[in-house]
Amino acid sequence: MQISIFGMGYVGAVCAACLSDYGHEVIGVDVSALKVKLINSGQSPIVEPGLGELLAKGVASGKLRATTDTEEAILGSELTMICVGTPSKRNGDLDLRYVDQVCREIGAILKNKTARHTVVVRSTVLPGTVKNVVIPALEQSSGKKAGTDFGVAVNPEFLRESTAIDDYREPPMTIIGELDAASGEGLASIYSVLPAAVFRRPIETAEMVKYTCNVWHATKVTFANEIGNIAKACGVDGREVMKLICEDDKLNLSAYYMKPGFAFGGSCLPKDLRALNYRSSQVESDNPMLAAIMRSNVAQVDRAFNLISAFGKKNIGLLGLAFKSGTDDLRESPLVDLAELLIGKGYSLKIFDRNVDHARVMGTNKDYIDSKIPHVSKLLHSTLEEVVNSSDVIVLGNKDSEFADVVAKLKPGVKLVDLVGFMSSTSTEDAQGICW
Ligand SMILES: NC(=O)c1ccc[n+]([C@@H]2O[C@H](COP(=O)([O-])OP(=O)(O)OC[C@H]3O[C@@H](n4cnc5c(N)ncnc54)[C@H](O)[C@@H]3O)[C@@H](O)[C@H]2O)c1
Repeated sequence: MQISIFGMGYVGAVCAACLSDYGHEVIGVDVSALKVKLINSGQSPIVEPGLGELLAKGVASGKLRATTDTEEAILGSELTMICVGTPSKRNGDLDLRYVDQVCREIGAILKNKTARHTVVVRSTVLPGTVKNVVIPALEQSSGKKAGTDFGVAVNPEFLRESTAIDDYREPPMTIIGELDAASGEGLASIYSVLPAAVFRRPIETAEMVKYTCNVWHATKVTFANEIGNIAKACGVDGREVMKLICEDDKLNLSAYYMKPGFAFGGSCLPKDLRALNYRSSQVESDNPMLAAIMRSNVAQVDRAFNLISAFGKKNIGLLGLAFKSGTDDLRESPLVDLAELLIGKGYSLKIFDRNVDHARVMGTNKDYIDSKIPHVSKLLHSTLEEVVNSSDVIVLGNKDSEFADVVAKLKPGVKLVDLVGFMSSTSTEDAQGICW
C-alpha cells in the first residue's frame, strides 16, 4: 500500500519504519524540517532501540522517504495515518490543535484529489473527537463528505517506548474503529500479516478503548503500589504479595470482575476493603486509590437511583435483592441500599428474589431479614409476574436467569433499568442500562 504518515514523533516514526519494513511504500510528513532531513538520511529522530537501523533500511530500499510537503504526501498515497501529538491543556483537557490543523491541511489537498483516500487517526483522542473535530475539519477543508468521498477510521497505537518495534510486530491486539466497512478495509489488510487479533468496531468504541487501556495500566501500577505500601508497613514483602496475586488467573488476572454494571457487595468485599483501609490509616500510609473505592461504590448506587427516578414513575419493581444471583445472602447487598433509597423517597416498591423469599420463610438468613431489614423484606413478593405486571419501572438487579425474558416481554409504556447487562442494545428512551 502507499501510506503517508503525518507526525514523525515516537508513534509516527516507528510506524513508518515498520510499515516500510513490511513492504509498504511510506511517505513520512512532519512540520520539522530537521526530523524530515534525519529520516531521509536514514537516522532516527528519536531514541528508540533498532529504529535507526530500520529507518535506514527503509530509505535505502526506496520504500521510505520523508517530506514537509503535505500535497506530495497526500497525492502520493491512498491512506494517511495521523500521528501528531495530543498533549494536555492546563485544565487537563485534550489539546487538539495539531489534530485540527493537520486535518485541515489534508482536507485542502483532498479537495482536488479524485482517487479515493482514507484518513486514519492513530493519535490518542477522546470519544467523539473524530466525529466532532476530525470529520468536520476534513469535510470543511475538502468540500467532500466523509464515508462517501473519503474513508475515516481510528487505529489506536499500543506501542511502548523502548520496545516499540517489537510491540509493532507483536501488538497485544489491533483495534480498528471504522466509519463504515470500506473505511476499515484497507487498514485491516495492513494488519493481516501480524499475529494479533483484529477487532473492527465503531469509531467511538475504538477511541474509548485506547483510554481504557492506558487508565487500566495506570490503575494497576497504583494498585500494586498502594498494596505494596500497606504490605511494607505490616512487615510483609509487597513484591511477594503481588507475585502471588498474579498467580490467580481465574479471579485476579481475568475477565471476571471486569464487566461494568452495578455496585459490589456481599459479606466480604466491603468488609475487607474497610478493614484494609483502616489498617492503612493505622500505619499512617496514605493510599488514596484504595480509600476512594467505597465512595465510588456508593456513587454507583446513587447512579442507579437517579436512572430510576428520571423516569418520573412511582411503581417500581426490583428484580433481585441479594448482592448476586444464586444466594440468599443479603449482607451489604447494594440492592438493599437501593431499595432503602427508593422507600425513603416515597416510591411504591415491589421486590422479587426467589432465594431471599425462600430464606424469609426458613433458612439461616431468616433472623437477619427479620431483625435488620424487616421494612425491605415485607415488600418481597413470591412470583415474578406479580412484580412485573404491577410496575411502571422494572429494575434488573442481578443476573438470575429467570429475569432474561423480562427485557423481551416488556409491555409498552413500562420502563426498564438494567444494572446487570441483560439488554442487548445500549440505552433507549424507555430502557436505561447503567453503563451501556
Ligand atoms: N509516545 C507513545 O509511546 C505513544 C504510544 C501510543 C499512542 N501515543 C499517542 O500518539 C500520538 C503521537 O504521540 P508521539 O509521542 O509520537 O508525539 P510526538 O510529539 O513525539 O510527535 C508528534 C509529531 O507530530 C508533528 N506534527 C505536529 N503537527 C504536524 C502537522 N500539521 N503535520 C505534520 N507533522 C506534525 C510534530 O512536529 C511531532 O514531530 C499522541 O496522541 C499520543 O498520545 C503515543
